[in-house]
Amino acid sequence: MKTVEQYREAFLDHLNSKLFVKEPRNLYEPMRYILQLGGKRLRPILTLIATDLFDADYHKALNAAMAIEMFHNFSLVHDDIMDKASLRRGETTVHKKWNTNIAILSGDAMLVKAYQLLDDYPTEVFSLLTKILSRTALQVCEGQQWDMDFETQTEVSIPDYLQMIRYKTAVLIGAALQMGVIIANASPENQMPIYIFGEELGLAFQLQDDYLDAFGDESFGKRIGGDIIENKKTILYLTALKLADEQQRKTLLQHYATAEDSQQKINSVKALFEATGATTAVRQEIEHTTRRALSALTELTISDEKRHYLKEFALKLMDRKV
Ligand code: IPE
Ligand code: IPE
Ligand code: MG
Ligand code: MG
Ligand code: MG
Repeated sequence: MKTVEQYREAFLDHLNSKLFVKEPRNLYEPMRYILQLGGKRLRPILTLIATDLFDADYHKALNAAMAIEMFHNFSLVHDDIMDKASLRRGETTVHKKWNTNIAILSGDAMLVKAYQLLDDYPTEVFSLLTKILSRTALQVCEGQQWDMDFETQTEVSIPDYLQMIRYKTAVLIGAALQMGVIIANASPENQMPIYIFGEELGLAFQLQDDYLDAFGDESFGKRIGGDIIENKKTILYLTALKLADEQQRKTLLQHYATAEDSQQKINSVKALFEATGATTAVRQEIEHTTRRALSALTELTISDEKRHYLKEFALKLMDRKV
């Protein structure tokens, strides 16, 4: 196995060799802008790792890895429109830098590009990969719609929320790994456990994203408190409501009933997350979910050394700040 940094570099070399801008510039320039803006490259790295785990040449997975990253970036460009976000990876979002119509169309083009990147795989592999991408893409749309519906829906349960993040975030991480296994031509019994590992890891990843949205620092690259301003029913909010006393509950509900965009609202809601014990509870939930992901690893027919590699990867992700 290579180091995570080596997979990232291999991916970035591949990405840079494929980034181009042609006419019309207002279609292709935003695509290049968002794709070279940075980001952790978590999903494509996982695709490369999954191929390498089963002793195939991970370079074979570069196009699929790029398809996954392309799809992810498409979803971010549209997500930032829906979430009215101005900052992404520390820079201006596409719809703010250009405009909403340009962001919609360049996003659409990225979705098409994601499929096109799979074109050169052998027919059988191609068919499996596109099936996974289509299933996953539709689930992400379902998750994103639930996310928006929940902004105004009064009763959202924690199981509703977990289902929503499974769809909007976790399935893509599962799919990134599953694609790598398929490209490696590994025995099919490895596909389910690696997918489940990815999905559980994806749940922990989104819980951590919710946490960092409120309690991260500038390096997070997104507006701190953005979810609070948008009245997002994040895990912090739902847990705070569950743990709140009557007065805290009233204040929290009042804040979430306004469209107010102020630092004061952010500060007050964050203080409630702390005072109710939600912050601590969410940290624990992130840890539990990561441990659940690790338990899926026992089913993989790989060496203990490789299992350990995945475990370290998962544990590092749990403590990320970016
Ligand atoms: C952001 O994903 C969207 C979520 C699913 C939380 P990442 O945190 O992986 O974003 P980048 O690609 O590293 O910027
Ligand atoms: C993102 O959820 C999920 C997708 C982009 C599909 P968020 O809205 O929490 O992602 P960020 O925080 O803007 O990256
Ligand atoms: Mg969103
Ligand atoms: Mg968002
Ligand atoms: Mg978020």
